[in-house]
Amino acid sequence: MEIRGNELLGLIEAVNVKEDGMLRPRPAFSEYERIAHDTLCRPFADLDVTICRDPVGNTVIRRAGRNKTARAVAVLSHLDTVYTPGEYDGTVGCCAAAHIITRLCEENITLTRPVEAHFMAAEESSRWGVGCVGSRLRLSLLNPQAVLDLRDADGVGMREAMRACGLAPEALGSFTPEPPEFAIELHPEQGPVLEHQGLPVGFVTAIAAPARLRVAFIGETNHSGACPMHLRKDALPASAELILRVEQLARESEDTYAVATVGYCHVEPNYTNAIPGLVELIVDVRGVDLQHRDAMLAEIKASAHQIAERRALGCTIKVLQQDRPELLSEELLELFEHNARKRKLGHTRLVSGAAHDVLHFSKAMCPVSAKPATQAGLIFIASRGGKSHCPDEFSEPEHIIAGAQIALDTVLTLAER
Ligand code: GLV
Ligand code: MN
Ligand code: MN
Repeated sequence: MEIRGNELLGLIEAVNVKEDGMLRPRPAFSEYERIAHDTLCRPFADLDVTICRDPVGNTVIRRAGRNKTARAVAVLSHLDTVYTPGEYDGTVGCCAAAHIITRLCEENITLTRPVEAHFMAAEESSRWGVGCVGSRLRLSLLNPQAVLDLRDADGVGMREAMRACGLAPEALGSFTPEPPEFAIELHPEQGPVLEHQGLPVGFVTAIAAPARLRVAFIGETNHSGACPMHLRKDALPASAELILRVEQLARESEDTYAVATVGYCHVEPNYTNAIPGLVELIVDVRGVDLQHRDAMLAEIKASAHQIAERRALGCTIKVLQQDRPELLSEELLELFEHNARKRKLGHTRLVSGAAHDVLHFSKAMCPVSAKPATQAGLIFIASRGGKSHCPDEFSEPEHIIAGAQIALDTVLTLAER
């Protein structure tokens, strides 16, 4: 069965609403994220599928299988975006997942296992400082109390944002969906490896997991002209020291994949002639090696406290997220490679520096046996210039179609197992 390239590209275009020539962002738990879910569900109104929107905004479109007790093969990604998005991050995988279900319906194919398209909610951490919220809540890998009271940069709470778009986080307690047997995510690489090697697709062996800290330095706001240097408590130079330390730690880490970023900085009162009395930073630390990643994290926390003490400032640290890096399924890697060879598509294995929902599917536990329930795999499509989280993001249409074809071929095999 073939992917219909033009239909798939048309879906991507339909999800990517433009305003004044610019892509309209779809922040996590926003009206525009919900509109994207509706756009992808609409064509299924008359097809033989069931559509389930869970209490935290993930959508699952399910084509039933012949075996009523077999667990599903899921193809997934996310529909929310960062604030300055490109057109492909998350969108490509969701559109491919929807298209795969459409193709099964069009060909009137029922496989042994059910096949599902999952559109995950709130994958991006840009709004709340925490990522993969939809997938982690759905899979019971995140305590709702740890995130629902978080506030975005405008002071809006996650719980109220969810309710405002018709979601019901309080219904989570009684919601225990069965994890799929296999989960496949299709996603742009967001890095330069495939393009450098001239390859359309790659298969991910391991995902570097993020840990995120919210660090606040608390000083005293005062007049920037009248307050002498030795009497001020300026929170911003302390932050500058910490930011440099974060960079140095990642550069010197023994984990080749270690990276650390301070991408969010909130300064109060944030004007020319006032000493900053409060600075909040979000530190994002990632690596494939859990021990090294967590050692970096501990070092950053200790540095923040030392800097604050030396400068007689207050300092608070909140761990927003601390995921475990994971290896993905070797069996799925081999199947992707087999299917790529059959389709004569160049490919390689690589590590993902970015986080992905499928990382959490790989940790899903079977509620009955309490054993890992899901084999997870991640297919990458080459990204031009390795760019992502910016409007320059681009993947060649034929590479997108190639990635979707491998996902479809793999689904067809797995759903008969
Ligand atoms: C997801 O885009 C991430 O932050 O890795
Ligand atoms: Mn993504
Ligand atoms: Mn992203």
